[in-house]
Amino acid sequence: MPNTQRQQPLVLGIETSCDETGIGIVRGTEVLANTVASSMGQHARFGGVVPEIAARAHVEAIDSVLAEAFAVAGVKPEDIDAVAVTIGPGLMGALLVGTAAAKALAVALGKPLYAVNHLVGHVAADRLHFPGEEPRPPLAETIALLVSGGHTELLHVTSLSDEVTLLGSTIDDAAGEAFDKVARLLGLGYPGGPAIDAAAVGGDPQAVRFPRALSLPKDMAEHRYNFSFSGLKTATARWVEQHQDRGLPLPVADTAASFREAVVDVLASKAIAACQDLGVPQLLLGGGVAANSRLREVLAKRCLAAGITLRIPPLSLCTDNGAMIAGLGSLLVQAGKKPSALDVSARSSLSFTAPLL
Ligand code: KG4
Ligand code: ZN
Repeated sequence: MPNTQRQQPLVLGIETSCDETGIGIVRGTEVLANTVASSMGQHARFGGVVPEIAARAHVEAIDSVLAEAFAVAGVKPEDIDAVAVTIGPGLMGALLVGTAAAKALAVALGKPLYAVNHLVGHVAADRLHFPGEEPRPPLAETIALLVSGGHTELLHVTSLSDEVTLLGSTIDDAAGEAFDKVARLLGLGYPGGPAIDAAAVGGDPQAVRFPRALSLPKDMAEHRYNFSFSGLKTATARWVEQHQDRGLPLPVADTAASFREAVVDVLASKAIAACQDLGVPQLLLGGGVAANSRLREVLAKRCLAAGITLRIPPLSLCTDNGAMIAGLGSLLVQAGKKPSALDVSARSSLSFTAPLL
């Protein structure tokens, strides 16, 4: 190992804000382990994440996920320089499992604790690379579009260690949640995103003109960077009902393609508007919805036309994971940031945007 690598901090990251129990171990920006257990299967019959089930699943999974991460990374707990953990936003019961584990580890090992912001963690995923890969060029100022089952935000990131501004977020459903709910309406599986992506193949995205919420000139003052997907879900439900009432077969591919187009159009338009308004020629995409093939296609095309560099981390680092939290922790250690107090409390709401509490 080159000397520079050896001097990089070895950081363990714990992520339990939603339904993934993620443990990552990074040295500097290199991912040594990124172990994830998901309780997604347990939520399938409810069509969305059930907080109590997610919290219990974290309790059941965390010890084995931790042990596996140490084994994969080939390091011992006492080798770790710092412990980073998602302190929020997220589901309270789920966050408590990760924060309790992180505090216990930090105390037992006598290592500093870094209680970090989940959203900033998604952005920090961009700086990570896997062994054998070249380190990625440093992430300069960027706009970040974070889209998952639990959140939908636009962030302006000036400095990952110091300054992150929340430009806007969803005022009702998250983008991934909209995919999940509409997939259910269309009789497709859970999670809905991949199911709708598959069902949309061959469909006409212009077949149904579904609404683009908060996109009219009158919305721009208050909601330029906010999103809303509940009206789109209702419009899709009406469309399905109309077919049922008339005994007509539902054109599933056209419906899925048109719904997906409406979501993607709004996400891309607002993200690019943010880049242009703030003069930031870089956009980072994160969260599970980053897997959406049409979102990637539309963003790539529109970013190219607008002279914006689009960065999308590998999917295993886009969905919730511990490596991104460890990566943010290692950056904060390197920036010389003061660790968190051991009595730091989990925060479920979006009320804070600081990288570190
Ligand atoms: O980041 P993530 O794995 O975790 C949580 O939100 O917990 O995101 C999962 C979400 C689900 O709502 C799922 O439907 C959505 O990401 N998703 C997709 C696709 N793959 C996953 N949404 C749209 N298109 C996809 N291909
Ligand atoms: Zn997330």
